[in-house]
Amino acid sequence: MMGKSMKCSGADFPGLKSRELSSRAQKVFPGGITRSTVERDPSPCYISKGSGAYLTDVDGQKFLDLSNNFTTLIHGHAYPPVIEAVSRVLQDGTCFSNPTAHEVALAELLVSRIPAIDKIRFVNTGTEAVMFAIKAARAFTGRPGVAKFEGSYHGSYDWAEVGQVGNPSTWGDADSPVPVPAYEGMPTSVADDCLILPFNDPDQARQQIAASADRLACILLDPMPSCGGLNHPDPEFIAAVVETAREYGVLVICDEVLNLRQGYQGASARYGIEPDLITAGKIIGGGFPIGAVGGSSRVMSVFDGSNGPAKVGQAGTFSANPVSMVAGYACMEALDETAFARLDSMGDRLRSGLSDVISRRNVHYVVSGAASLFRIHNKATLPENYREAHTTPDEAKNMSDMKRYFLSQNIILPIGRAACLSTAMTDADIDGIVEVFEKFLNLEPQ
Ligand SMILES: Cc1ncc(COP(=O)(O)O)c(C=O)c1O
Repeated sequence: MMGKSMKCSGADFPGLKSRELSSRAQKVFPGGITRSTVERDPSPCYISKGSGAYLTDVDGQKFLDLSNNFTTLIHGHAYPPVIEAVSRVLQDGTCFSNPTAHEVALAELLVSRIPAIDKIRFVNTGTEAVMFAIKAARAFTGRPGVAKFEGSYHGSYDWAEVGQVGNPSTWGDADSPVPVPAYEGMPTSVADDCLILPFNDPDQARQQIAASADRLACILLDPMPSCGGLNHPDPEFIAAVVETAREYGVLVICDEVLNLRQGYQGASARYGIEPDLITAGKIIGGGFPIGAVGGSSRVMSVFDGSNGPAKVGQAGTFSANPVSMVAGYACMEALDETAFARLDSMGDRLRSGLSDVISRRNVHYVVSGAASLFRIHNKATLPENYREAHTTPDEAKNMSDMKRYFLSQNIILPIGRAACLSTAMTDADIDGIVEVFEKFLNLEPQ
């Protein structure tokens, strides 16, 4: 079933102009790219325009975009209300040392919707949001350590990226995963302050959090980690994490940089988690750079410098810049409960369409995800954690063939992480994805 080399038949990918840009880029960027997450299999596709659900590349080819800038663009590309809001604000200046009404409006919107957020601070990326959440937890508890789950991606702060890239030769015992460093030369003290836990294992969570609690400031939890497998969180596991954390005074940080898009009140509300802090990003900037950390007034008081120096200084030249604030507001305002219900039902239609094909054809694939997110795995059963989702070299080759086949059919399908839908998509787009998946299966030796 695995490993057939596939030649693109429809779209010419990457086209000539993309290849020319790529060779210029090779001369100026290490590895030819300026962020490591850019798709390079076989080489990058340069985009000239995005509109709604579609992207057009520099060679004039059009693609249905299931990446949406790594799940950011919940309304698709060039969403008119965002363009209008940003165009208006550009005339008035784009960044000041002073606050603006726009940051207050976006903060009010988020505080009113997300139950665990009483107070919020804006930053520029999800990485920064996670970094400040960890610093806040440390300042609040007076402890240095961070517990997190194997394979979950939380951006590039050292303590958040330990344990996110293990493989069978580095990851060690399944019950106590090795805190695999994210890069060579990472200080060993970083790993010493990180506890890596298996996702969806309530017993290990209970035991290990309790055993390390006197050094732990926080538990960093993404309830449905995209790179970890987009696994469904077991309610018993979630309860074990939160209850043990409470018992030992360890803070729970729910990293919703990606999964806030799971509902009107976000992912923690969807999965019944009451975190001390929430990190957000992606959708709340409407397509512009943003991050946010929010939580209970008690914990967020570590950022309060109104009566002497704050316990945690948080600044940022571009934090709360008016462009990101108005874009985020326009995006989030349009995301009412009806919009989320429609995203949910499109996601259900897609996941069940793919699953029907899989069971009809009796092939070893499964689909994980929720709301507007999905991930296809070439596995016999739904993975519950990072190790179960991890692909063998043959499986990785098969997934790369699938991605290339989708490209040949003018669909950008991220693999190894979540793919997503947007409000700009239609049921016809959804059915087209299912059709292309079935056509791909037709090409595989049975
Ligand atoms: C769960 C999670 N946390 C943090 C980040 C980092 O966000 P950013 O890329 O904006 O720094 C990401 C990015 O994909 C993410 O998915």
